[in-house]
Amino acid sequence: MSAYYLEIAYIISVVMFMMGLKKLGHPQTARTGNMQAGIGMGIAIIATLFLYKKDGVGIDMEHYGWIAGGILIGGIAGLLAAKKIAMTAMPQMVSLFNGMGGACSAFIGLIEFGPAIGGDVITFSTVLSCLVVGTLTFSGSMVAFAKLNGNLNKDIRLPFYNILNTLVMVIIAGLTICLLLDKIDEPIMWIYILFGISLVYGILFVIPIGGADMPVVISLLNSLSGIAAALAGFIYSNNVMIIGGILVGASGTILTIAMCEGMNRSLTNVVFGAFGGGGGSGTVTGADGIAKIVKETSASDAAVMMNYSQSVVMVPGYGLAVAQAQHIMAEFQQMLEANGVEVKYAIHPVAGRMPGHMNVLLAEANVEYDKLVEMDDINPKFPTTDVVLIVGANDVVNPAANTDPQSPIYGMPILEVSQAKKIIIVKRSMSAGYAGIDNELFFDDKTSMLFGDAKKVITDLVGELKNM
Ligand code: TAP
Repeated sequence: MSAYYLEIAYIISVVMFMMGLKKLGHPQTARTGNMQAGIGMGIAIIATLFLYKKDGVGIDMEHYGWIAGGILIGGIAGLLAAKKIAMTAMPQMVSLFNGMGGACSAFIGLIEFGPAIGGDVITFSTVLSCLVVGTLTFSGSMVAFAKLNGNLNKDIRLPFYNILNTLVMVIIAGLTICLLLDKIDEPIMWIYILFGISLVYGILFVIPIGGADMPVVISLLNSLSGIAAALAGFIYSNNVMIIGGILVGASGTILTIAMCEGMNRSLTNVVFGAFGGGGGSGTVTGADGIAKIVKETSASDAAVMMNYSQSVVMVPGYGLAVAQAQHIMAEFQQMLEANGVEVKYAIHPVAGRMPGHMNVLLAEANVEYDKLVEMDDINPKFPTTDVVLIVGANDVVNPAANTDPQSPIYGMPILEVSQAKKIIIVKRSMSAGYAGIDNELFFDDKTSMLFGDAKKVITDLVGELKNM
């Protein structure tokens, strides 16, 4: 009877996962969606703890203490981390979560390989795949975490890293096949070696990738963590783990493809191309060696220019999140609108540091969703836009993506702001953005720099409008 209730609980969980996932597709419903999926997971865990039975026997009572301890420690750590985390540190947190998911699957692989040795090939191959995918997801995610958190700043490229990585991948595949075909003595020792090589492969795979490619790597690792969880579900014939894992794997894959399209790069190019940070001195000298001139403006001149224009497009970027300037930006937008200016926000798919970062920030400030215009829809509107106000964005408006074949971001679609009549850029200095490269837009004739912290500068702009 308990098996019957367990299946019902699992069906409810799975339906809640799917409804939650659907709701995550829109900022207005995302919060509820996240909550629903979380409740679904809670139901699955409680149902497994109390209703699961193997050969008619449930979980041994003496294990409940350990399980409760694990839930308590993990639950408190997760709750505190989620409460304390700054919005700008969200990608690191996602990486850490991916890594933990991978580690769980790796542990399952390590615990379950013993009984699987010499058993049927399907089960044994599932266990080994779970071990390999889980392990490389764990080590790769830890490297991604260290990079995003600033603990590992360099994109380390070993000599011939592409050949090396491919070789390690071939060794993993070869060893797995030999184990499956029972062609190896001492399989236990070799499975531990397989575990070790997978750990190394995760590190080798992520370590050379950097710069603007990190978002793609994070979503790829996210998708791998889902695949590893689904494989673990197959080991235990647990439908909720299989479906949950497949949902994560599939959505992560779709996101990875969308990110690659957003940057106009193929996945192979990201994984094997290892593009990343460059120099980024902040000053640009022309081919003739003469330093280019930067035009500066003041809050009062910028406020007048925008107040007397017909259309303003605001381009938010990572700096908006750092400064937490979204609320004051929304206030500035409303004041301009009250004075008859048409205002829109241009949203680049990889602006900020996580997918949908700008949407989340602006939703937090209650900006109406129809004011956010995606890159493909806003680009044709720039030639008729009077003023573009760029706030803490850099790479996503860098014309080098169109003009400089040597640039690491060459080919990435950008917001074509240089087509607008006037451009105002709010940032603190001439420093480069995430990809670490200079930006010619700062020296464009139509551009004026408005230096300062985004929150302070926009507060000044609001003050100027109030005084007009
Ligand atoms: P970035 O190119 O990183 O530029 C952000 C700019 O904000 C910097 O140049 C910085 O200049 C400025 N800034 C920082 N703090 C500020 C503050 N308090 N006030 C005002 N300005 C401030 O940002 P972007 O244009 O949004 O591009 C995103 C980049 O991150 C892309 O390369 C993307 O590939 C990468 N990335 C994206 C994601 C996702 S999924 N969105 C994840 C990881 C990486 P100053 O220091 O001079 O102020």
